[in-house]
Amino acid sequence: MQDIKKTIEQIKDLKTRKNAVILAHNYERGEIQDIADFTGDSLGLSQQAVDQAADIIVFCGVHFMAESAAILSPHKTVLLPEIHAGCPMASMVTAEALKAEKQKYPDAAVVCYVNSTADVKSESDICCTSANAVEVVNSLEEEEVLFVPDKNLADYVARNSTKRIIPWEGYCPTHNQMLASDIISAKQAHPEAEVLAHPECRRDVLEMADRVFSTTGMLNYAKESSKTEFIIATEKGILHRLEKENPEKRFYYASEFAVCPEMKAIDLVTLLNSLEQMQYVITVPEDIRVKAKLALDRMLAVKR
Ligand code: 13P
Ligand code: SF4
Repeated sequence: MQDIKKTIEQIKDLKTRKNAVILAHNYERGEIQDIADFTGDSLGLSQQAVDQAADIIVFCGVHFMAESAAILSPHKTVLLPEIHAGCPMASMVTAEALKAEKQKYPDAAVVCYVNSTADVKSESDICCTSANAVEVVNSLEEEEVLFVPDKNLADYVARNSTKRIIPWEGYCPTHNQMLASDIISAKQAHPEAEVLAHPECRRDVLEMADRVFSTTGMLNYAKESSKTEFIIATEKGILHRLEKENPEKRFYYASEFAVCPEMKAIDLVTLLNSLEQMQYVITVPEDIRVKAKLALDRMLAVKR
């Protein structure tokens, strides 16, 4: 059996020797978040990928996140420690299907949630994340917006914008299975708690929430708020930082089923193997990368 302390030392040592940086999403396993140099939401991680001085980015997240880093930082080596860690929602739209849909709405701008493949990004005008979706859509000149692939985020944006949003039939299985009845039960059990929800949740869940945030938005709000109890309607992994950064506050899961298996695919051993064996290198064909980068760059230029 591998000694955990030794594994951690080996990871740190290799990271220094290879001039690597470890980026981790807020849903990753606690031990991965703890060893990462930066933990954040999709927007924060994309910004970090641009700003890094390291030669190697080890991305502890899912495939589209590592791909975004490779798009934004083509001169760095981007590693995804578990090649099968993918986002099921990102697979719900293909570039071919999007091209066909674009024909139907020639006047619409195409906004794609970053939870999408590089191919889909390359067919889009601009990307967005859960942290800036409303601002991105409102920044557009077009009045009509084809929004892919998350129908729940599209619906949230539509309710917070005057634009006509044409949604795609995609969703996050982890957030979509959270039901209004889960929030009702949690509120009954914790009547004083404030409900914080992620915009990938269904409309009826969001309507019951006190606040809607990206994962980092939730972390910032929980820290600054004078409230001491929160019901959290997003993937469970975020509880790690919420509890660590706010030991005096109480956090309750809205649903015990809110676990994304893809975000749990990397552990310390997988991470060590990744650094040792330089696996798995994520690359994007140059013609796709250049077009996808335009959509990401436009997003990063939008003021929040
Ligand atoms: P963020 O709110 O952290 O960007 O996360 C959304 C998500 O589901 C990532 O897979
Ligand atoms: Fe995809 Fe949902 Fe998992 Fe995020 S939580 S990676 S959106 S399946």
